[in-house]
Amino acid sequence: MKILMVGGGGREHALIKKLLESKRNPELFCTPGNGGIAKDAKCFNVAATDVEGVVALAKEIGADLVFVAPDDPLVAGMVDALNAQGIRAFGPNAAAAIIEGSKVFSKNLMKKYNIPTAKYEVFNDPKNALEYIKDNNTYPIVIKADGLALGKGVIIAESFEMATDAIDSIMNSKIFGNSGNQVVIEEFITGPEVSVLAFTDGVAIAPMVSSMDHKRAFTGDLGPNTGGMGTISPNPFYTDEVAKECYDTIFIPTLRAMEKEGRKFKGCLYFGLMITKDGPRVIEYNARFGDPETQVVLPRLKTDLIDIIDAVIDEKLGDLAIEWDNGASACVIMASGGYPGSYEKGKIINGLDENGQVDGVTVYHAGTKLSDGNIVTSGGRVLGITGKGENLEEALNKAYAAVSKISFDGAFWRTDIGRKTLS
Ligand code: AMP
Ligand code: GLY
Repeated sequence: MKILMVGGGGREHALIKKLLESKRNPELFCTPGNGGIAKDAKCFNVAATDVEGVVALAKEIGADLVFVAPDDPLVAGMVDALNAQGIRAFGPNAAAAIIEGSKVFSKNLMKKYNIPTAKYEVFNDPKNALEYIKDNNTYPIVIKADGLALGKGVIIAESFEMATDAIDSIMNSKIFGNSGNQVVIEEFITGPEVSVLAFTDGVAIAPMVSSMDHKRAFTGDLGPNTGGMGTISPNPFYTDEVAKECYDTIFIPTLRAMEKEGRKFKGCLYFGLMITKDGPRVIEYNARFGDPETQVVLPRLKTDLIDIIDAVIDEKLGDLAIEWDNGASACVIMASGGYPGSYEKGKIINGLDENGQVDGVTVYHAGTKLSDGNIVTSGGRVLGITGKGENLEEALNKAYAAVSKISFDGAFWRTDIGRKTLS
């Protein structure tokens, strides 16, 4: 069985490592991949956003399955294009991926179907947006670009001046391009955040074990937002009681809403949740596996991933029992100095091996490449070091032990991943 993975970050490396455990013994391909993925799968140069290029590559390889991992190609209709050529693909079609591709769509969906989320208004005129913010006069206030923005499209404005800057850069300067044609302005809500990824075939939904991301760049939740600097699983705030409430009031209603709208969602649906004092609220949906959530969730999966992929595509998920490991896992991201702003590339990484020289650790490559026989840095988030243990403390100790053995010029990481939850 030949599987082509589309993407080239830590999430894709974690998916590939899990596919390697399959009893089906697949032959793995990845485009574009990275320096670490190249050890586990044959890599190509086609960009993950190149829909036609990926379709052509899948045909050339004779891929039995294409796994589309990132948001942009899903929103651009890569799964539709593959299916049109008779190629099996994992991921939602464009009609369903809009749940991530447009925040205006997802907020309106939640309003229409009574799915709990923060109160909001939509604007397509910057003047009206600012007038609303002025009248509302409550800070912080949350401003979100409608479309995809590399995880940077959410601004929490603490004052009218900050809100003015945000509206101006999104709607007038168009720093996120057409993603800023409309904005969602949302009430600021508080509470612990939980990420729940779920397999769904559009009818049945199988939530995976929960996780917690750490989005701010620096230790102590300081600095700018990033794609994610570390994760833990399970998330201690996601109790059985909260899980049940989320299932009944969010997961199932979302699935049914998408079906009613003629946008049946098949693939991995990501629920970004906030557990407020009034109950769980949806912060955002993603149409894909999260990064670095995947790097802590998948290591705990016991069921064969290819069996799950087949069940999702063939709409038989309801017949499958999915099993998870009872322990815990933790992932610490090692990043390039300067990230999420600009940073240098090409730094040689020392101390690398498959498990970072610590038992129970896996090193996932995110922004690396092979250069003259060395693995060098090539992105902002460079490595995801995941430790597994009986409990969170053990998982964290292992991850940090491996981090201390790996080095590259300018490397930084947060020293408090999971810390808040250990008392
Ligand atoms: P997103 O890119 O949608 O995940 O948003 C990034 C981060 O902004 C989230 O993880 C939250 O921490 C924060 N955020 C988004 N919406 C709200 C909101 N309505 N109230 C408070 N914080 C929010
Ligand atoms: N870690 C959040 C995301 O993948 O968007």
